[in-house]
Amino acid sequence: MSDALSAGLPQPSAERLAGDLRALEAFTRPDRPYTRRAFSDEDRSARQWLTGRMVEAGLGPAVDAAGNQIGRRAGARPGPALVIGSHLDTVEAGGRFDGIAGVLAGLEVARCLDAGGHRLEHAFEVINFTCEEPSDFGLSTIGSRAMSGKLDGATAARLRDRQGRSLAAAIDSVGGRGAELDTARRAPGDVLRYLELHIEQAVSLDRAGLPLGVVTTIAAPSRYRVAVRGRQDHAGGTPMADRRDAVAAAAELVLLVERLAREAGRGMVGTVGFIEARPNMINIVPGEADLLVDFRGIDPAAIAETLGRFETGTAEIAARRRVAIEWTSLMRDAPLTVAPEMVAAVETAARALGIPHRRLTSGASHDANHVASLCPIGLLFIPCREGRSHCPEEWAEATHLATAAQVLLEVLLRLDRDLA
Ligand code: GLV
Ligand code: MN
Ligand code: MN
Repeated sequence: MSDALSAGLPQPSAERLAGDLRALEAFTRPDRPYTRRAFSDEDRSARQWLTGRMVEAGLGPAVDAAGNQIGRRAGARPGPALVIGSHLDTVEAGGRFDGIAGVLAGLEVARCLDAGGHRLEHAFEVINFTCEEPSDFGLSTIGSRAMSGKLDGATAARLRDRQGRSLAAAIDSVGGRGAELDTARRAPGDVLRYLELHIEQAVSLDRAGLPLGVVTTIAAPSRYRVAVRGRQDHAGGTPMADRRDAVAAAAELVLLVERLAREAGRGMVGTVGFIEARPNMINIVPGEADLLVDFRGIDPAAIAETLGRFETGTAEIAARRRVAIEWTSLMRDAPLTVAPEMVAAVETAARALGIPHRRLTSGASHDANHVASLCPIGLLFIPCREGRSHCPEEWAEATHLATAAQVLLEVLLRLDRDLA
């Protein structure tokens, strides 16, 4: 700890972070812990809570046109900001740490700066990005996409959820201004460096007993909506040879996704996480099935190959089973190699604090993937128990969160000192 710049400042507190985690876990759909979907009442309540904590931490709170909550602390000089961010929205029956850990760590860093009366040279921002998790609009990472210029107002006005509400209206409901979405875009010169802390959502740190991971590569999702249209018939009277069963075709699609990801290797994974059959009745051969397909990878060649095989594979199943299969590409994001300077910055800070760490890759995607088109990003992981995530059992230790927040603070101070 001897050459740590943060040694003279108040340190992140595990007790305070544990209290914040408890406060946030209360903002859940009561029948489904821990569920705080973007644009819901729970999301709005959590945002309100965060605004209060930002003010207490000396951050000036604001909401941009995309609904991103931005707490800002002025620097000694004008110019681009150093930013820490993540998200407070969750998946269905998700966890208490995914995204939340990163926002709280940013808040805790702000508290340490504030309590120590430390003025940074650069402006400092803590961001809660809007809707990092998948939405009914077919998109995820909505706030960071908009901030990095990959989602415009026209698209937000066009995309609809099942109730027919536009994404622009959903953004309005959390304090954004959907009609002015384009103004959420920031110029590359506006953000100096971006840091995000996240739970690993895989098991390597927990297994190794290490408190910190430094991410070198981040996988990216490619997603499809698939509509299978067969023929609805009587389950008793229709001979097997005459059927055009949409669910049987969907079952083949599920296995196709699994087989392609396995055969691709090179870190590819594939999941069908959503399937809906109609009419969904025991004595009816199903006429329709809808699926959502998610492929991830870090190797661009493996991704391209797998997606190509998936698209031709759907045509083969459709022809053989005499059903129509139509797919729509929802997103095709690019994997990210983290800038070596940022990997080194995090490692140097961890070393200065004597915190053991290792390099690793991220299978999950993050707001950092998009912010990377604005400035170099750094991504830090803390262990989560047995690698479990996107489930109610997701668990991370507040002590690990405080340790990683200490590293964040140290990186921040070093970047502030070293960058023009
Ligand atoms: C975010 O949770 C993701 O799907 O990677
Ligand atoms: Mn998630
Ligand atoms: Mn997340």
